[in-house]
Amino acid sequence: MPTLLVIDSSPMTDSAVTRRLTRQFVALWQQRFADGDVIFRDLGANPPPHPDALTLAAFNKPEPARSAVEREAVRYSDRLVDELLLADHIVLGSPMYNFTVTSGLKAWIDLVGRAGRTFDYRPTGPVGLLRNKQVFVVTARGGFYAGDSPEAAMDFQESYLRAYFNFLGIDEVRFIHAEGQGIDGETAQAGEARAARHLQTLFAEGEAGLVA
Ligand SMILES: Cc1cc2nc3c(=O)[nH]c(=O)nc-3n(C[C@H](O)[C@H](O)[C@H](O)COP(=O)(O)O)c2cc1C
Repeated sequence: MPTLLVIDSSPMTDSAVTRRLTRQFVALWQQRFADGDVIFRDLGANPPPHPDALTLAAFNKPEPARSAVEREAVRYSDRLVDELLLADHIVLGSPMYNFTVTSGLKAWIDLVGRAGRTFDYRPTGPVGLLRNKQVFVVTARGGFYAGDSPEAAMDFQESYLRAYFNFLGIDEVRFIHAEGQGIDGETAQAGEARAARHLQTLFAEGEAGLVA
């Protein structure tokens, strides 16, 4: 049975649009995979530490050469990597902050991109070490960026996340956008409802969404 990793990254714990949509994803996923395992990682409520000099240096040391403090720093990153390695499906709630991801999600990205664990540099170039995983990114944005929007060039969130997961070896990265959250109540609701319908179609029978 597959494992789903649910990553929320909105600092807003009660009102977040992305949290409502990741919960909907979990409910649909559990209908489909009743015996599957679900792991929750909340980068909004419990932001990971920004990687510091000690942590980054410790990544490059063999385990026996690490001090107790270094071991603890690496352990935190290892836990995040282990969750990712266990997952077949990943749903990531990602609010757009200043045209890209929140700082909590960026810290996770820096702690999970680990040479030797999630990618390798080989003589022929970088190789992602993650295999057979699908990522579903649920975004919320105040404005409109998708499609032929005039603001499309300022969307550094989708291209960035797609490039990052591709770099780690995950080619299947799908985006579900809840746009227009900052315009007015009606536009915000319509944007969220559109995203909710998009999630339904991903799980609809016959859709090439979830392969596990
Ligand atoms: C610090 C901050 C920066 C933001 N930057 C952008 C932005 O660059 N573009 C945009 O369309 N919306 C921006 N927003 C609006 C959020 O994307 C929007 O409120 C979204 O619903 C947040 O997701 P959440 O409801 O899941 O927390 C920003 C909001 C905050 C608090």
